[in-house]
Amino acid sequence: MLLEPIKWKANKIIFIDQTELPSRLKYVRCGDIATLCEAIRKLRLRGAPLIGVSVALGYALAAIKSRTRAGLREDLRKASGRLKATRPTAVNLFWAMKRMEDAFSRLPADMDLRKVKRSLLKEALSMLIEDQDMCRAIGRNGALLIKNRDIILTHCNAGMLATAGQGTALSIFYEAKKKGRKFKVYADETRPLMQGSRLTMWELMRNGIDATLICDDMAASVIKNKGVTKIIVGADRIAENGDAANKIGTYGLAVLAKHHKIPFYIAAPSSTIDHNIKTGRDIPIEERRRDEMIYVGEKQTAPIKAKVYNPAFDVTPAELITAIITESGVYDIKRFRGI
Ligand code: MRU
Repeated sequence: MLLEPIKWKANKIIFIDQTELPSRLKYVRCGDIATLCEAIRKLRLRGAPLIGVSVALGYALAAIKSRTRAGLREDLRKASGRLKATRPTAVNLFWAMKRMEDAFSRLPADMDLRKVKRSLLKEALSMLIEDQDMCRAIGRNGALLIKNRDIILTHCNAGMLATAGQGTALSIFYEAKKKGRKFKVYADETRPLMQGSRLTMWELMRNGIDATLICDDMAASVIKNKGVTKIIVGADRIAENGDAANKIGTYGLAVLAKHHKIPFYIAAPSSTIDHNIKTGRDIPIEERRRDEMIYVGEKQTAPIKAKVYNPAFDVTPAELITAIITESGVYDIKRFRGI
């Protein structure tokens, strides 16, 4: 059952407010950059590829709202700066923004304002379609690795709700199911913001995947006692050497995979590879607000003044990764050099 986490209608960005899931499937109509920035910061819109598509549409929205040809360049510069300041780790955000800025700079300086607006919107919408194609291709490539009776562990949400299409890591499950493979999935709940329990479980159940929810701290014992055969997760930024940043907790799973001698796969589009950085040491890691750890929903679960450390991502070193699955193939980590 395909979802449309983001779409464009009547000069508005329409997106699912993911903070309302799983209890409510609510769409937001967004017609300004401030609302879009707030949505990205608060994770109403999240997941690296989806953030990329949303900022591309945001750039087009800023053009559409611009009143004069003379003021357009400055309006776009401001919108781009605000969108780039929302979240630092997912490189898809910066990749998408650069693509929009390049598209704008290629247009003739005297091009009519209406034509510029049309052209930027066309570029953003083609990125949305490309994201959907890329998701299917990652799914098909990854599905080749799935065998009957596999037991697969995943973390966070790298599914339909993290892209404009059918996801990256979870797309592999959807394609494997289409091929008739019989397998089971364990989904980590993914503290502190529960993308695994709120989003991955909701999405997998809706799509008929045999999925079981576990708390993050059960992973080691589930791998050992339930016979997990592989781990597949997404990524927010991959360095040239294959080091990969993903939701906090991913690195620990890769260490567990090595100890238990099971493969650990990263599934991500090529737009998640950052060709400007050589290793994971250069990946900026977002630190989020203390409230996310002091409260679970409305309920206070730690002393208000507790010292808190809340990094949203960690970096898994390439040596712990078996292969990176992209839209163009499955790359054994030994052959991966930023492809
Ligand atoms: O903080 P989030 O929810 O945006 O983090 C998302 C993840 O870590 C995903 O695993 C990653 O973006 C891959 S999405 C296909």
